[in-house]
Amino acid sequence: MRIADFALERFFARWEFAVRHLLCASDVEGWRMADLVALADDETAALWANLRLGYTEAPGHPLLRAEIATLYDTIEADDVLVFAGAEEAIFCLSNVLLGPGDHAVVTWPGYQSLYQVGRAAGADVSLHELREADGWALDAERLIASIRPGTRLVVVNAPHNPTGMLPPAAEWARLTGELADRRIHLLADEVYRFLEFDPADRLPAGADAFPRGVSLGVMSKSFAMAGLRIGWLATRDRGLLARCAAFKDYTTICSSAPAEILALIGLRARDIVLERSRRIVATNLDHLDRFFAEHADRLSWVRPRGGSIAFPRLLDPEPIDAFAARLVEAEGVLLLPGSQFGFEGNHFRIGFGREDMPQALAGLERFLGRSVRE
Ligand SMILES: Cc1ncc(COP(=O)(O)O)c(C=O)c1O
Repeated sequence: MRIADFALERFFARWEFAVRHLLCASDVEGWRMADLVALADDETAALWANLRLGYTEAPGHPLLRAEIATLYDTIEADDVLVFAGAEEAIFCLSNVLLGPGDHAVVTWPGYQSLYQVGRAAGADVSLHELREADGWALDAERLIASIRPGTRLVVVNAPHNPTGMLPPAAEWARLTGELADRRIHLLADEVYRFLEFDPADRLPAGADAFPRGVSLGVMSKSFAMAGLRIGWLATRDRGLLARCAAFKDYTTICSSAPAEILALIGLRARDIVLERSRRIVATNLDHLDRFFAEHADRLSWVRPRGGSIAFPRLLDPEPIDAFAARLVEAEGVLLLPGSQFGFEGNHFRIGFGREDMPQALAGLERFLGRSVRE
């Protein structure tokens, strides 16, 4: 397989561990393992203490799959397949569903693998562009109009990376209803699910919406445990899941034994885990509201509706790539220019899931103060 470089991941490979403040991270501040293990119940504490480091069950630990299933309304443990992060799940599903002659539609700008893997597999992939002028809204009618006879898959990421877009329930129902009628698969990338700023905005999961709906989940974002590298697909289409399982034999075969148990502990304690993530995000959002209000002459943003990232725009004439390069040099604060998404204009991704965000923002603010607009 020949596949284009994943621009954002190459960017992070260069910078992530070399800067003082990552003001563009998409995850929530990672848990300390000792704090997580302290949340274990009797059963998971015993599983952790007695864990043997052999191969694990290929579809995922039965207790983990059962726990993941409780995140959905219509999903049973056998409707869940565990992967090494969301990334492996995207890779397997795209390869299973898409090949030469197939067509897919994917929200864009977005996480590159959601469209790149399908293209590398030989499919024709159309991008459903979200537009700042529309508040980055998903346009169900425009998306439906781009469906063709060969369309096999529609991919929607919501809450969305990088804009924080979250469709209203009616728009979501319009799209999922249409896909159900047309017997097209939906990959709902829900890795930021449970981080809706208003819980009333949480959408029905893709897997619950219709039988060919597939939900993509992961421990990395809302659950703040990216280092576990545990993700999953959930769908009532067991035939599709079986094909993904067969494909996974060529990638990781089975998950990491310690990571599975830690993910189980985290999901069983999800009230505590999610409450912590929401608290970090809400506190940081307050800072950002003030920041964007104070710097409205230099920066604009569409306030996100969920997740831990947004996609503001620098209004200065200076290109964002040059601005970001000077910022990281001067303050050790990293922004992610929109060019890493292949997106034209002066946008950048800002992340607000990290506990050092106020310090990172202070660095950006100092820098803005020094580099007065020409
Ligand atoms: C929308 C989206 N999907 C999938 C992923 C992949 O998640 P992971 O790195 O945990 O596999 C990411 C990570 O940034 C993402 O933002």
